[in-house]
Amino acid sequence: MCGIVGYVGTKNSAEILVDGLRKLEYRGYDSAGIAVFENDEIKVCKAKGRLDDLEEKMSVEGVPQGVCGIGHTRWATHGEPSDINSHPHSSKTLSIVHNGIIENYIELKAKLIKKGYVFESQTDTEVVAKLLDYYYDGKPFETIKKVIGAVKGSYALGIIFKDFPNQLFAVRKDSPLIVGVGENENFIASDIPAILKYTNKYYLIDENEIVILTKDNVSILSLDQEAIEKELFTATWDIEAAEKCGYAHFMLKEIFEQPEAWNKTVSPRITDGFPNLDVDSLTDELLKGVEKIHIVACGTAMHAGMVGKNVIESMVRIPTDVCIASEFRYSNPILSKKDLVIIISQSGETADTLAALRLAKQNGVHTLAVVNVVGSSIAREADSVIYTWAGPEIAVASTKAYMVQLSVMYLFALKLALVKGTLSEDKVREYCGALLDIPQKMSDLLEKCEDIKYFSSRFQNAENLFFIGRGLDYALSLEASLKLKEISYIHSEAYAAGELKHGTISLITDNIPVIAIATQENLYEKTISNIKEVATRGAKVLLIVNEAFEVDESIAKYIFKIPTVDAVLMPVLTIIPLQLFAYYTSVLKGCDVDKPRNLAKSVTVE
Ligand code: G6P
Repeated sequence: MCGIVGYVGTKNSAEILVDGLRKLEYRGYDSAGIAVFENDEIKVCKAKGRLDDLEEKMSVEGVPQGVCGIGHTRWATHGEPSDINSHPHSSKTLSIVHNGIIENYIELKAKLIKKGYVFESQTDTEVVAKLLDYYYDGKPFETIKKVIGAVKGSYALGIIFKDFPNQLFAVRKDSPLIVGVGENENFIASDIPAILKYTNKYYLIDENEIVILTKDNVSILSLDQEAIEKELFTATWDIEAAEKCGYAHFMLKEIFEQPEAWNKTVSPRITDGFPNLDVDSLTDELLKGVEKIHIVACGTAMHAGMVGKNVIESMVRIPTDVCIASEFRYSNPILSKKDLVIIISQSGETADTLAALRLAKQNGVHTLAVVNVVGSSIAREADSVIYTWAGPEIAVASTKAYMVQLSVMYLFALKLALVKGTLSEDKVREYCGALLDIPQKMSDLLEKCEDIKYFSSRFQNAENLFFIGRGLDYALSLEASLKLKEISYIHSEAYAAGELKHGTISLITDNIPVIAIATQENLYEKTISNIKEVATRGAKVLLIVNEAFEVDESIAKYIFKIPTVDAVLMPVLTIIPLQLFAYYTSVLKGCDVDKPRNLAKSVTVE
């Protein structure tokens, strides 16, 4: 998963390309590069490291001057991060940038070597550069068509041909690509934030459509070379949404944006006090017939599904599985026509999640996607879509996207409960009212989170840390633990509190930090017993507790109280201090909060 951009217009393209790449760094940031037409020659500059390293290199070697070029920010898959393996990759006649994986590159490489091609990198992408050169007969369209017929795998490709100065070519399959349309300038990009500074008008490119751009023309062609008429979209995200706006990090900004994101996602979907999902294909009749639900997702989205499972099972009483998408797709899952598969994804492009969706569809099961990025592959392929309205999430560690995924889980569970009659109308109305009150409660809580910084300072030197909780608190702990691991590099595990004694308690020794979460009344006493078990063995406990409970203050070294809402909604508030705990710990440790090592936000490879 890498980020690609391309520009053709009248301005200095190097600046625009680097600027666009900065907005795509969430997709990968271990090397970067650009290729620009300079006096009708292609000039390439690329470097291992962050964009700052590329800029430094360009300041020494000279910034390529020209009005058309392509750029790339990389998350290495084939070949370590290095100058040579960075994109763009070139051959005699062209340069390319690529997001995706060419699965048959070894076989193609062997053939090309026999034809006399010499390879300098270990990447799969260089094979495409050489293959394009091999097929090139002066006609870019035909050449690209031949190449996409020969390669297997996923790709969004940006291509410039030496013989066609100031023209951009692009094509995609299973990796995202948009075309941005400006005044006297046009763009290609992996995602909208890369172009937002220049235009908010864009086309979504479909599989194997070939794009040809000049500064004042956009052609999108089918493989039969027919012009394709497409809808021109207008991005509703403003430029501030993709900027830090005074916050030290995107993650902090996004944590503070959660009340607004919740409001935008929930309030239009409550009409006259009742949930109104407003998805035509999700009819009451279909919902009535659902006997089992499978929630499929990866990472944080999967953790939102864990909370969703608890909520759906408690409100609707129908069995709900949560499956990791990479497991689901190869597990020969047992699916029946009366099942519903819910796919959750912020980006809508995660390769395993997309494959899981396709598998469910092949089995004839209705698929409902909960997605943040409008027009993404998952959104386009699912039978029904509920969009979350978090706006662009830039920090690699997901926060506001998780929050709105939770909000959709509640809305969906309430709708299902209403249709199936498992909750009374009064109860549903009461919950909907509570959902509408959440943003204010979140804002109040965010103002009271100063203590969290102090807790982080007490725990920042830990090598290992445990989160414990039961029921919904356990589901929430999984996300709290992932956040901490991702950005502070402290090893942490989330454990169902009652399961500790079956092994993990052997790891609890003097001063091992344990964060215990207790927000559920029916489980409170049980969790307190588990806290005592770890405290007796020397653990340093931070208790995150529902403020409605009477707490014996001697039970834990540190205590943080969460305002009380209905038990089922407690995760929504409780996750906030835990996100901040991960954030402040990362800051105190001097880690790169928004771009943690080895991770990328959008994982478009298996
Ligand atoms: C990556 C990201 C996670 C994210 C997961 C699923 O691992 O680093 O933050 O939760 O992918 O992404 P999706 O876009 O499908 O929600």
